[in-house]
Amino acid sequence: MDALNDNGSVLSVRNLSTVFETGNAATCAVRDVSFDLRPDERLGIVGESGSGKSAMALSILGLIEPPGRVSGGEILLGGRDISKLSDRQMGAVRGKEIALVLQDPSTALDPVKTIGRQIIEVLAAHEPDLKRKAARKRAVELLEDVDISHAERRLDDYPHQYSGGMRQRVAIAMAIALNPKVLIADEPTTALDVTTQAQILSLMDRLVEDHNTAVIFITHNLGVVSEFCDSVAVMYTGRFVETSGVEHIFSAPTHPYSEALLNCVPNPEKLAQGPLPAITGFPPDLSQLPSGCSFAPRCPVGKDLAQCYEKAPVTHRISCPDGEVGVECHFAEARARGAST
Ligand SMILES: Nc1ncnc2c1ncn2[C@@H]1O[C@H](COP(=O)(O)OP(=O)(O)OP(=O)(O)O)[C@@H](O)[C@H]1O
Ligand code: SF4
Ligand SMILES: [Mg+2]
Repeated sequence: MDALNDNGSVLSVRNLSTVFETGNAATCAVRDVSFDLRPDERLGIVGESGSGKSAMALSILGLIEPPGRVSGGEILLGGRDISKLSDRQMGAVRGKEIALVLQDPSTALDPVKTIGRQIIEVLAAHEPDLKRKAARKRAVELLEDVDISHAERRLDDYPHQYSGGMRQRVAIAMAIALNPKVLIADEPTTALDVTTQAQILSLMDRLVEDHNTAVIFITHNLGVVSEFCDSVAVMYTGRFVETSGVEHIFSAPTHPYSEALLNCVPNPEKLAQGPLPAITGFPPDLSQLPSGCSFAPRCPVGKDLAQCYEKAPVTHRISCPDGEVGVECHFAEARARGAST
């Protein structure tokens, strides 16, 4: 069995912070984020654009480039802190232990190399003794795993000869080629039409099940979260403002921001009542964060409460009928009880 962290998690992120320093401004994209990922967990991460989802994913993978840097925290994978590894050491971890799928598959594929060559390169990078014939056989199997028909023949095609959905399937095949313990998917279905989106989701569902892979799934689509994930983290201004099981977030979102996000999700009933509500205002500039709660100016609960502007809320851990919930709001307990605040 793969080595886990002492607390039984496959990935433990502790107080992770990432900053982008440009000119005189320091954009705090990820602020003191902590969470544990169980070996069989599928964690969905949601939040408005700019809330720090991709920065967090890239930080975990050691892919933040200047002017950005991970400014603090630990990333424990298999009992060791991978945030302290050199680029070379991290290169051996990426792909093999933790892999990434991005929204745009062309970022993972080189247009001038055949699909087969690229899959074989991924395999050979971590298994230098792999013989050519065996590597080609594995590449065919991987393409078959992601439902590419005539895999043997299509191995010699170039990326432009594949459709967008097929390219994303190849990117997924390359990501799972080495059986990583953790797969981070950053909006893997956003660029695809609804039908292809559904195919990719069901493919990922099957693959992560077969390969026992834990998943961090970043998306704007709460419907996808309800379908694919079993836990969820709501991100706002670089913080996890609510973490819970997926049922809880849909039945009783506790943080006012989670509730507002849920209210924006269309359904036939809501559409019949008129235009959908939008969250008023915009997230604050991450280089000039207020001292109190960063959601205060937009929060229907706290926008007129001095306490919300004066003091940043801490995370409250609350036991709910459907499991523990973490909520970063001064009124978390009262809201979880359903009391008015
Ligand atoms: N390379 C960079 N240089 C400077 N600032 C950056 C860089 N990358 C990200 N940021 C900043 O970090 C913050 C978080 O960005 P991030 O890309 O993580 O958001 P996101 O939640 O993934 O948004 P989206 O949903 O649009 O993908 C933003 O304020 C962004 O401007
Ligand atoms: S602390 Fe105040 S402003 Fe922040 S989410 Fe809670 S009620 Fe709203
Ligand atoms: Mg992003």
